[in-house]
Amino acid sequence: MAAPPFLLKPSFACMPQLPFPGALSARGVSAVIPGVVFAVLSAVFSPSPVQAAGDVQAGRASFQSKCASCHKVGPSARASFGPHLNGLFGRRAGSTTDYAYSAAMKGSGIVWSTDTLRAFLHAPGKVVPDNKMRFWGIGSEREIDNLLTYLQTFQSAAR
Ligand code: HEC
Repeated sequence: MAAPPFLLKPSFACMPQLPFPGALSARGVSAVIPGVVFAVLSAVFSPSPVQAAGDVQAGRASFQSKCASCHKVGPSARASFGPHLNGLFGRRAGSTTDYAYSAAMKGSGIVWSTDTLRAFLHAPGKVVPDNKMRFWGIGSEREIDNLLTYLQTFQSAAR
């Protein structure tokens, strides 16, 4: 049964009277709570500078537009214009068996990791001079993070 309207009215009528002495301390507490919540949330969600986790979907989009014309990934990936990029992390540069690398890439002594890939994708021609990947490089750290996160999803793809 709904309460008759005249019974509900007094509770609304009370609202404007709130600033009684006790209300001050109550307000003090409620002013502190959002600060604490914010501190906890930002500690949980702030990106760590060490593990820059990128966005897989954005990485896929970058790969499609900037790498896929020369590189393949996924279960049936083979060498095409460039070597396939499955299982890339921990791989020695120039080591897939179905691709004819430049001497520069083969002899670079690089092992691909987040750090070496980041440097290479920034400036391929500086990191491996005379390599034959005709690619200018990517300026955006964020885009490289996304690309590397995407490439990591092919770490265990069949070769
Ligand atoms: C125009 C074609 C082309 C494009 C575009 C291109 N690459 Fe390459 N990439 C190559 C070629 C060719 C090589 C082999 C270089 C050599 O042997 O000197 C290579 C080599 C590499 C290697 C070394 C692989 C290994 O087995 O050591 C990586 C990593 C790589 N590319 C990543 C990328 C990524 C990521 C992109 C997109 C941002 C990209 N490449 C864009 C042609 C390309």
